[in-house]
Amino acid sequence: MDYPRLSSPLTIKNTTFKNRIVFPPVQTNYAAPNGETTERHINFYEGIAKNNVGLTIVGAAGISPFSRLGDHAFCLYDDQHVQSGRELFEAIRKGGSVPAVQINHGGRVMNPKLAGDKLIGPSAIPSPSTDRIPHELTVEEIEEIIGQFVLTAENAKKAGARLVELHGAHSFLLNQFMSPAANKRTDQYGGSTENRARMVREILKKIRQRVGEDFVLGLRMSVEEFVEGGLTVQESREMIKMFIEDGLDIIHVSGGGVDSGPKMIQAAEKGDLIKLAGRIKKDMNIPVIAVGGVLKLEQVENALQEELADMVAIGRGLIADPELVTKTIEGRSEEIVECTGCMQCFMPSEDPGMACAVNENI
Ligand SMILES: Cc1cc2nc3c(=O)[nH]c(=O)nc-3n(C[C@H](O)[C@H](O)[C@H](O)COP(=O)(O)O)c2cc1C
Ligand code: SF4
Repeated sequence: MDYPRLSSPLTIKNTTFKNRIVFPPVQTNYAAPNGETTERHINFYEGIAKNNVGLTIVGAAGISPFSRLGDHAFCLYDDQHVQSGRELFEAIRKGGSVPAVQINHGGRVMNPKLAGDKLIGPSAIPSPSTDRIPHELTVEEIEEIIGQFVLTAENAKKAGARLVELHGAHSFLLNQFMSPAANKRTDQYGGSTENRARMVREILKKIRQRVGEDFVLGLRMSVEEFVEGGLTVQESREMIKMFIEDGLDIIHVSGGGVDSGPKMIQAAEKGDLIKLAGRIKKDMNIPVIAVGGVLKLEQVENALQEELADMVAIGRGLIADPELVTKTIEGRSEEIVECTGCMQCFMPSEDPGMACAVNENI
């Protein structure tokens, strides 16, 4: 089979992706305890980037010491991380992929061992998946966190990333602020759609001022949270239009998260997340990345041809076999080591990091 749409390049501003395949952010927990990259971390991303993947997004980098999803999470909040990040992004670039990084604060659903003296959130209400009540952030504290996101994005650019993706999905802090279920504030950061979008809007505008017009800014969003009273596609579309005014260049569509329990992966496996991407893409004037349950290039080509997305991400499929795309293009599909969907790899927050049941080389 030919893959004409999949193999066509895409250019955003002055960054060209050689094809439409994305490796989405995954929290590997392969960095050093101080957040610097390591040989294992670099080798993992290099193995994917050199195998015909147009965009490689490094997973959930911490924006401060107490924002991290793992005790060995990669971070970019200070100069030592910039220095170590250069090696990581250069390895991805040399592999022929555009180097990118997702930046994140875990907020109320973090592993409490990693949260410092307190868990934080928009409101003092727990996630449906935990019974831990977070501290409701003050406006001064919100401003401090906005500054941390901005500095981390600037550091990512200094280290050689060509795209920064804000993590606004999967029930983490920025998702919590956008969510009508998690955010019950009565000040300028809560209530109306505009108020719940405000934190992300301020971050986008400030990052844009600091990184210039050419740098590519992305956002990952759980456009349906799959929880009672949570975000829906309709409200997410309104927010995304606001974010485009603030300088957003590309939107990465996901759904659900920690709050929704297994519904995110169930939706991924049924192909429902890709359908959500299609609903976001309709009349939206920036490129859309779709994700979820893709193990074959036919699925990518079909999603592109059906105008459900402009790029398609393959997560677990590439963890199981980083050569998935190369082997398919070269007519060696029968050699692909296929992901079984067992979820052994999922979100390790403590050492020894991500392991895969079918790929012992990571
Ligand atoms: C081990 C693991 C870690 C993940 N870490 C992140 C993360 O840091 N940030 C994020 O936005 N999504 C994360 N995800 C979700 C993936 O990016 C992706 O959306 C999900 O796996 C569905 O895509 P797939 O069916 O192609 O695997 C993670 C998924 C896995 C399996
Ligand atoms: S651990 Fe299981 S679900 Fe995760 S990539 Fe490997 S085979 Fe797939």
